[in-house]
Amino acid sequence: MAKNSLSSTLITSDLRTRFVGQRVIYYPTLTSTMEVAKREAQQGAAEGTVVVAGEQTAGKGRKNRTWLSPRGSIALSVILHPSVAYLPYLIMLASLAVTHSIVAVTGLQPQLKWPNDVLVNGKKVSGILIESSLRGNIVDYAIIGIGVNVNLRLSDFPEIRLTATSLSDELGREVSQLEMIRQLLIEIERRYLALPAGEPIYQEWRDNMVTLGKKVRVKSGKTTYQGIAESVDRDGSLLLRHRDGSLTKVVAGDVTLRD
Ligand code: BTN
Repeated sequence: MAKNSLSSTLITSDLRTRFVGQRVIYYPTLTSTMEVAKREAQQGAAEGTVVVAGEQTAGKGRKNRTWLSPRGSIALSVILHPSVAYLPYLIMLASLAVTHSIVAVTGLQPQLKWPNDVLVNGKKVSGILIESSLRGNIVDYAIIGIGVNVNLRLSDFPEIRLTATSLSDELGREVSQLEMIRQLLIEIERRYLALPAGEPIYQEWRDNMVTLGKKVRVKSGKTTYQGIAESVDRDGSLLLRHRDGSLTKVVAGDVTLRD
């Protein structure tokens, strides 16, 4: 069997979870796992159903950006049915699941960049996208989409080479995608089940946020803010302290570090 071959059976086999990843739908090639997961969720898929793609041809990033997702990367979406109060925590639990999986499988030491990037040595190795559908105060479904650059040579991707990295480029050797996926599913479920004790997840997310304490520029919609990234809130937003002492709460945006 090829070192990095994937299948639903390989992913689910003896997986130590109660429900996350107990049903996996695997496609060698797919437009976007988010699209299929959404369709599955609308048709009543069981909680924990996971859609995995060997490669995506129309991977979705935040803010309608494209997400490069060639063979060698991980692209997966997990369907969940959380209560509405837990929605802000999904980005936190997903980021932490990614960092813990990277540590467990590779020994690399990732860091978090607000709001949803996972970095290794200052470059992006993983992105997370959360989509949800609500009816009033009831969550129909929420989908956690995770992309990880596992075995990519970034020199093959000039468009992202300066800002992105991969686990294999950092380690100088290939990494098992199967092991990474299985670990991710275990880490996601562990934290999802721990949500009723919400505070530790928020605290760990905040404490691993490399952005905090730094001078930053934050682009949010048409507005650009500058200040010191003071903290992150329990609802996931960034608290930015300005020179005049005032504080802005930024709900969504892109951060660049200023020197
Ligand atoms: C970002 O950083 O902009 C978020 C990227 C999220 C990419 C993942 S890959 C799996 C899932 N399917 C997609 O089309 N997007 C998410």
